[in-house]
Amino acid sequence: MTAIPDPSVYPGADYYDITMRQGSWRFHRDLGPATVWGYWAANPHDPRKAIGMGYLGPTLSVTKDRPTVVKYRNELPTTHLFQFVIDRIRNGDGQLAPTAPAPYKSKPPFPSHINVWNVVHQHGGFTAPQSDGMPLQSFSPDGFHAESYTTLDPSRVKPNEAISGYTNHERSCMLWYHDHGMGMTSVNVYAGLAGLYLVRDPADERLGLPRGEFEVPLILQDRSFHRDGSLAYTMADREGEDTPVVNGKAYPFLAVEPRRYRLRILNASNERFWRLRFDVPRDVLPQPTLPFWLIGTDGGFRAPLQMLNFLISPAERYDLIVDFSQMPMGTNITLTNYHAPVHYPGMPGMGPVISEIMQFRVTKPLSGGADRTTPPKKLQLPTAAPIVPEPHTRRREWVTYQHKLFGTMTFNAVPFMEPSQDFIKAGSTEIWEYINPNHDAHPIHVHLVNFQVLNRQPIDAAAYQADYEKWLDGGRKPEDRPVLANYLTGPPIPPDPDEALSDKDTFKSYPETVTRIIIQEFGLPGTIASIPGSGAELPATYVHHCHILEHEDDDLMRPWTIVGHGD
Ligand code: C2O
Ligand code: CU
Repeated sequence: MTAIPDPSVYPGADYYDITMRQGSWRFHRDLGPATVWGYWAANPHDPRKAIGMGYLGPTLSVTKDRPTVVKYRNELPTTHLFQFVIDRIRNGDGQLAPTAPAPYKSKPPFPSHINVWNVVHQHGGFTAPQSDGMPLQSFSPDGFHAESYTTLDPSRVKPNEAISGYTNHERSCMLWYHDHGMGMTSVNVYAGLAGLYLVRDPADERLGLPRGEFEVPLILQDRSFHRDGSLAYTMADREGEDTPVVNGKAYPFLAVEPRRYRLRILNASNERFWRLRFDVPRDVLPQPTLPFWLIGTDGGFRAPLQMLNFLISPAERYDLIVDFSQMPMGTNITLTNYHAPVHYPGMPGMGPVISEIMQFRVTKPLSGGADRTTPPKKLQLPTAAPIVPEPHTRRREWVTYQHKLFGTMTFNAVPFMEPSQDFIKAGSTEIWEYINPNHDAHPIHVHLVNFQVLNRQPIDAAAYQADYEKWLDGGRKPEDRPVLANYLTGPPIPPDPDEALSDKDTFKSYPETVTRIIIQEFGLPGTIASIPGSGAELPATYVHHCHILEHEDDDLMRPWTIVGHGD
């Protein structure tokens, strides 16, 4: 479903009115209805027919450079769908995770009788801070506001609402929106609070890509169910099997024509990495897999690349062309998860492996004559220019540090709630080095910017971890901080082919490795003409975090700040 804009509310902008609501949804015909959370868009043509399905939310399809204004309204219940998780993470003073001492765990910004709070973040968006939807901008259904709650056009909002504005100055790409409630993003998104946001560039129509019904967005998730069909929160009370859910349906299938399709895949799982492959029956092709062409990633198009499988971490997007034209009528192609455990590659035992995800069934006759889309090899796509580091490019280190006793995750052993300590000159280019001494991978997301993966290098993780802890215990004297160069155990490794020369907003920080990304231009979006105050002002604070939602909630997130040249 696609939401319908109302162009009459803010001149020059498309307006949407979106409500978060509890509802009911069947994930499979053999499962009973589940209570879920979702987004509903008001229908400007018929107020009685809101657009949504109960779970997830309608797609916002917008035009590049034409601004969007969205009012988000919180009509969720005041008791959480996974209230037992909220109860468990509180203790007497409302502090999260009673196992962790205060300096290693952030406090929720709400009094202890408030159990539900939400805020909507547009993931990958080039957005002014007051519209970005960061955790401390949360608001509750009963109108409580966290300390950094902000809204555009305050005269038009009730206490349980907030207005955000987006300039849509991104390249054409698939963004998504999802809940970012402080300390409870994991349970809020698990309940269903996520949807797609497509930025369309009219110039793309000349590229010869499959479109209309031949362009299919796929939102991949895993969910567990109780016997009655209701959602079981995976991390706490896994009862059944982990089940693949695509666009809200368990083990779905799609009837397709023998032609090229554009599949736009989002991994919206809380923590599962998938290694995806298209399997065909052995008698159809000489090899049992159908190759696909990668034509874009998080931030837009890239040079086409033929691949047989790929690893997608939470929050990443892969834009693919798959060619079913050689498939005989009746062929079933299975999208499989080819040996990617929940956390990649470590943490075995965190959850059962899912193998089959969905099927493409070539059962529809070719409509409208032969396929006239451009063969992927010949596509002329606007690709990303390489960002080249210079000797003086500023470097910043981020250690994904797991507390030795409490297990809590932080960047650099500093809790999220500590004020920003990282001040970046507007317009500058920086290299961020993510040092991962852990045994599993983290998908790291930086708000506001696109970046490219520069390289990776293996590290002596045990030695680094031990010396880092010694440094923490010794009072963090800047001059004693472990020097990364002393722990490198091999030469730099170039980016994986599927991330090279690609604009990214989320990347895989592999275990026992330093991953370097280069971020060009910490710039700020402009103003939406019909809304005074919608533009960004310096200093502007954003966040970066692990997109394993349980890690993010567990404090693997930090603010950072763009400052002007005088600051
Ligand atoms: Cu997709 Cu800060 O998140
Ligand atoms: Cu993580």
